[in-house]
This record gives sequence, C-alpha cells and structure tokens, in this order.
Amino acid sequence: MTTSTPVALIEVDATFAFGEGRLPEAVFDGLEQRLAGIRRRTTRERARGDLAFLRLGERTEDAEAIARWRKSLPPFDDALILGIGGSALGARVFDALRPDPAGLPRLHVVDTVDPDFVGGLLARLDPARTVAVGISLSGTTLETAATFLVVEDWLRRAHGASAPARIAVVSGEEPNPLAHRAADRGYAGFSIPKGVGGRYSALSAAGLVPASLSGIDPLRLLSGARSAAERCVADDPRNPAHALARLHYLAQWKGKSVAILWTYAARLEPLGPWWVQLVGESLGKKARERGTGVTPVAARGPADQHSLLQLVLDGPRDKFTLFLDARSGGRDLTVPSGGDDLSPVGGKGLGRILAAEREATEYALAHSGRPSASIRLRAADPESVAAFLVTAEAAVTYWGRFLRVNPFDQPAVALGKTAAMASLLGRPPDAARAIAAHRATTRRTYA
Ligand code: PA5
Repeated sequence: MTTSTPVALIEVDATFAFGEGRLPEAVFDGLEQRLAGIRRRTTRERARGDLAFLRLGERTEDAEAIARWRKSLPPFDDALILGIGGSALGARVFDALRPDPAGLPRLHVVDTVDPDFVGGLLARLDPARTVAVGISLSGTTLETAATFLVVEDWLRRAHGASAPARIAVVSGEEPNPLAHRAADRGYAGFSIPKGVGGRYSALSAAGLVPASLSGIDPLRLLSGARSAAERCVADDPRNPAHALARLHYLAQWKGKSVAILWTYAARLEPLGPWWVQLVGESLGKKARERGTGVTPVAARGPADQHSLLQLVLDGPRDKFTLFLDARSGGRDLTVPSGGDDLSPVGGKGLGRILAAEREATEYALAHSGRPSASIRLRAADPESVAAFLVTAEAAVTYWGRFLRVNPFDQPAVALGKTAAMASLLGRPPDAARAIAAHRATTRRTYA
C-alpha cells in the first residue's frame, strides 16, 4: 500500500533568494540563533494569552453563530460592507474566493467617503434587496461612522421598523459607540476578541461575517487558520513563518527597502492590498534615528510584467520579491489551436501559460541577481488562503521582533484619525493649525 504525503496548505520556497548578487545564505542560517530568543518570547506570550490572532482558528462557536445569523437574514441580492483598513481588506480577500464569482449576493466593500462612489452605489442598489454590515474594531472610525449612518438612514427610509433585520455590526469587545448603537437599535452584533488588532482581524468576525455573505463557509477558513497557527509556532526548522521573517529581515538588512508581493492567481490578488497594510503599519515605526520598515508593494502578474517588471529587473537593487501563487487554480481553459502566427499558444491551457509566465519572471530575477522567494498555496481555496493570512501575520510579528519594534500598534494612524476628527469638529490640533497657516502664507500652485 502506498501512502502519499498530504500537500501542505502553504509552502515557502527560498531557492532563488540566495546566490550571486542575491542574499547571503550563511547569514540566513545564522539568524537561527536570534530566532531562538524570538521563539522563547513567543512561547511566553502564548502562555499568558497574548498573540490572540494565533488563536482565532479555535473560535468555531463564532463561526457557527455567524452561520445562524446568515440563515436568518431576509432575502437580499446585495450586501454592503462599511469598514476601512483591517476592517475591510479581509472582506475583499474572501469575496474573491466565492464559488460563483458572478453569483448573488454581490458584496460591495465601502472603504471610502467619496460621495460620487457612495451616492452612485446606493443609487444603483435596491434597498428592498440589500443588507449592510458596519465593521470597526474601535467603533469610532470617522469614515465608517459616516458611511454607516448614511446607509442606516437609507435602509430605515425603505424599511421603517423592519430595517434592523438587515443591519449588523462587528466591533471590538471594549464598549464603543458602534456597538452601543447596535444594541440600542436591535441590530445583530458580533465582536472581535480582545487583543486582536485591526490588521490581524481578518479571521475574526471582521472577516468571517462578510465571508459568510460571499458564500464562504467560515468553518473552512478557521480550519486553515488552526493548521497554520500550529505550523507557525512549531519549533521546527521548516516553520514557514520563521523562514519568511528571516528572509524579509535579511533582505532589509541587505538594503532591500522595497518588498513586493506579486500575486499570480486572480483569486489571490486582493491579498496584495491586505499584505501591504499588514507590512506597512506593523513595521513602519520610529526606531533609531531614521525610522524603520520597508515599502510594501502589491504587484499583479502577469499585468505587472508589462509595467513594474522593467524597474524590478533593471532599476535600483533595493527590492525583494515574494511571489504568491496556488498549485491548483481549479478550472483551466485551453487556447484553441490555429494555423496563423498566434498559434504557438494554441492547445495550451491558460493555467499553464500563467505558470510559465511566473516561472520565467522568477528565473529572470534570479539571473539578474535580484532576490525573490515564492509562496505556493495548495489551492486558491478558503483553507489555504486562511493559512496564508496567519502565516503572514506570524512572519510579520517575528520580523518586527528582529527589528525590535512593536508590530501591533499604529500610533501614526491613530494620530491621523484624531487630527481629522478634531478638524471636522472645528478644533484642529496646533500642528494642523500651523500647517494651514503656512499654506495660507506660502501658497505654491501651478496650473
Ligand atoms: O490595523 C489597524 O488597526 C488599522 O489600520 C485599522 O484596521 C483601521 O484604522 C480601521 O480601524 P477600525 O477597525 O477601528 O475602524
């Protein structure tokens, strides 16, 4: 009897990271020693209940409650997700995995207050066939408060006393104005567990509620999250989060100040903006004199082979590329064979062409001495994508430990939120007043 090893949900391949002009393998191996300290710290933190994002996969009761709520909803064709940053990006990631991309209900993530967009969207939708979810960990975010109130009013005008059945709220466990309004008005309410930060919350109700509206089973996401969490804390040289953290830190140490996540499967593309937020906000911190962090960039293959690739191959040697693809994308489509000049692609599957393009880009980078690594998911499916989310979150946490910064706070984002709110209330902070005065006296415009 033959037994086959199950395909891992996620695999990191560092083959092209090292070598001529790329990263020094010996230093990568040497980082194992510093990792020992990080591992001990992780063990202590988990023992006292910290690193809550690693335990989200265990919260199956949350997923079951979400599934029950989903079943109780009145009929709808459109779902509005009102949230921003970590309270919106996961919804887009999961929506791309929906079994029938063109099917109903449609999900609309509203993470802007642009009146053209919001007004245009509401004008196209039928409130009689729409539900809405407001998502905000803090429950105070300006953009989300604004769009939530606009949509709440729109639904109330159409449905009167039955509007609450169409509205739900996801927010943090701490008392907050959004949760308070939900309780007051009888909306369904879900909470993001204490200790889970905004950009680490995709596998909490913040992402599971929208996922359920897109037809994704939250239990499948949690199963992938559980299995990845176990791998990412394992004391094992094949731990994928440890490998990624070491690669990224080493690349940064070698002067690669730009990190690119280059997705190939179209279903994985929304992971790009999600990862950009995770890396940018977690590691862009005041440290030493000049600050630390790298500039994260989301690239889409093969479209960016006809855009960014020229810069990545021939431009400044300041980039580290992480390719992300799935072993199996599900369906394939064969290009018809023809007898003309277009025929070399005839008879080939589009999936094979896509894989060839990714491989060729990896080889080209390696050949030019540009470091890269690849992440291969088992498939573009809920389990593997959840595993990627957890692995990336753990890797960024460990990378932050290498840099000696706190990967869980975002003081600059908080400052921006406070300043915008103060300005709206007619009480701009001193710094904002000084900038406004500067603008008034030294205006430079060109038209
Ligand atoms: O990671 C973070 O904490 C932030 O980027 C938040 O996700 C973002 O600011 C939205 O905040 P909130 O969920 O409180 O509305």
